[in-house]
Amino acid sequence: MKSYSIALIPGDGIGRDVTAAAWTVLETAARHSGFALTGTEFPWSCRFFKETGRMMPEDGIETLRGFDAILLGAVGWPAEVPDSVSLHGLLLPIRKAFVQYANIRPHRLLQGVTGPLRTESFDILCIRENTEGEYSGAGGRVHQGTLDEVAVETSIFTRAGVERILRFGFEQARARRGKLASVTKSNAQKYSMVFWDEITRMLAAEYSDVTVTSYHVDALAARMIMAPESLDVVVASNLFGDILTDIGAAIQGGLGYAASANINPDRSAPSMFEPVHGSAPDIAHLGIANPIAAIWSGAMMLHHLGEKDAAGGVMKALEATTARSVGTISGKDSTDAITAAVVAALT
Ligand code: NAD
Ligand code: IPM
Ligand code: MN
Repeated sequence: MKSYSIALIPGDGIGRDVTAAAWTVLETAARHSGFALTGTEFPWSCRFFKETGRMMPEDGIETLRGFDAILLGAVGWPAEVPDSVSLHGLLLPIRKAFVQYANIRPHRLLQGVTGPLRTESFDILCIRENTEGEYSGAGGRVHQGTLDEVAVETSIFTRAGVERILRFGFEQARARRGKLASVTKSNAQKYSMVFWDEITRMLAAEYSDVTVTSYHVDALAARMIMAPESLDVVVASNLFGDILTDIGAAIQGGLGYAASANINPDRSAPSMFEPVHGSAPDIAHLGIANPIAAIWSGAMMLHHLGEKDAAGGVMKALEATTARSVGTISGKDSTDAITAAVVAALT
């Protein structure tokens, strides 16, 4: 029987609940489809940091390299470990080390789910640059604690990095409805974003079958709320993509519905699948975290592994469940009840 090795990193807070839920669904789906998933769980988290002084062991990246894929819950417990320490010690280094430069975040309403503003259908695929830009970690502080203090956070955009993410977006647009929105803030940021616009124009000439529109990020944020049906593929830098995809989550019903895949398109290292949301300390341990985003992310993992029928089966079961309005982010239904409903809907 075909078998895939999966590294499981539940992480912190509701990351633990939703990863367990996704794993239950994925194992069942694999069994139905005649392949196996072998999970190896790693306790890397803020708790692990408190015990060891590190978010993951020194050889953590090398340990993960041998897996077919990584399924992650959420990282962060700000009451105990500063976010700047926990995220730079676990989640962000994995995205960078494994060159998971394309962060794919789909935004659409699952059957039966209503967004807070409107219910017309939309289908947006956000492609977020995931390894450089505003998250480059370059910068520093001088004269700390004095009135002369200066803090610098430098965004680094490389031609190779911008071109590959835009090219990835153009390919996705070509395979979908042929529309690409390229997002910058080139009216205010005159180096990196003008550079991004130039590369967009260069590629637009090559992909003449794709309709390209460049938007400023502020205008696109409004458009995602006012006219989401006008958008198909949206490509944005790391920080802009981060913010836009929480808007995407909001219009699709809430953070509990937004899935994401951190893809290494060259397949030179494992890709990582995780919900868009975080560890949600405000509802951790209550058993009410919505597992749908994590289960959907798991379906994206099956698809990436080549198990497209099983991935489709999980999505069908998810929608059968939401169509009956079992899952809501308002905390009406327990994580376990939603998970059991999805498992029962798997055929
Ligand atoms: P968050 O996404 O954890 O929570 C924001 C709000 O959404 C909260 O009210 C929360 O209860 C709600 N929510 C989120 N997911 C939900 C779900 N599945 N079901 C029901 N409600 C849900 O964002 P935050 O509060 O800014 O961050 C909390 C911690 O998580 C921080 O440490 C942050 O850095 C971290 N974080 C990690 C990731 C990640 O690991 N990928 C992503 C975002 C935030
Ligand atoms: C996300 C998260 C992370 C990000 C944080 C936790 C560093 O918000 O995956 O969207 O900004 O990439
Ligand atoms: Mn985010």
